[in-house]
Amino acid sequence: MSSFPEIVPMSANASPMPAYAEPAPAPSGKELVLKVIPMPADTNGNGDIFGGWVMAQVDLAGSVIPARIIRGRMATVAVKEFIFKQPVRVGDILSFYSSVQRIGRTSITVDVEVFAESFRTQGHFVKVTQALLTYVAIDDDGKPREIPR
Ligand SMILES: CC(C)(COP(=O)(O)OP(=O)(O)OC[C@H]1O[C@@H](n2cnc3c(N)ncnc32)[C@H](O)[C@@H]1OP(=O)(O)O)[C@@H](O)C(=O)NCCC(=O)NCCS
Repeated sequence: MSSFPEIVPMSANASPMPAYAEPAPAPSGKELVLKVIPMPADTNGNGDIFGGWVMAQVDLAGSVIPARIIRGRMATVAVKEFIFKQPVRVGDILSFYSSVQRIGRTSITVDVEVFAESFRTQGHFVKVTQALLTYVAIDDDGKPREIPR
């Protein structure tokens, strides 16, 4: 008999996740650039996940494909159409999907879609957020530079 105590996963004591109203499929043709699970420290006064935390994750996720193309310093110059469609709850698994919308002379615009999945009933995706972000390739002086072709 093992001398170790039984290990009980934390999720076994968690309260049941509320069901989401509108299931949506994860997008095809987009790249999964980030997966993250928000924690209680990321909540707002309602107990849902703070929008600013989601925005920071979207900025990080959106930078992944541009970083691969720009290969060097870059900065976020614009975030457009930030839409919070559904609240995000502690313990949800968030998946961030991205695709390139436009490559300009010095900038790249990407679309980011965020899907939540219950930790317990995985595979049931709900779109919670979408945004359009533009990143600019910058030189050592912080000035725009041409994107390498
Ligand atoms: C990013 C930065 C270097 C751009 O400098 P700038 O002089 O404004 O650059 P430009 O006007 O020459 O534009 C550069 C590119 O950005 C694009 N751009 C500028 N403003 C934009 C906007 N509001 N929306 C979308 N694209 C924009 C331009 O279209 C151009 O792209 P292109 O060459 O592919 O056509 C400068 O604005 C900056 O340092 N901003 C602060 C960045 C930062 O700190 N980000 C973090 C914020 S928390």
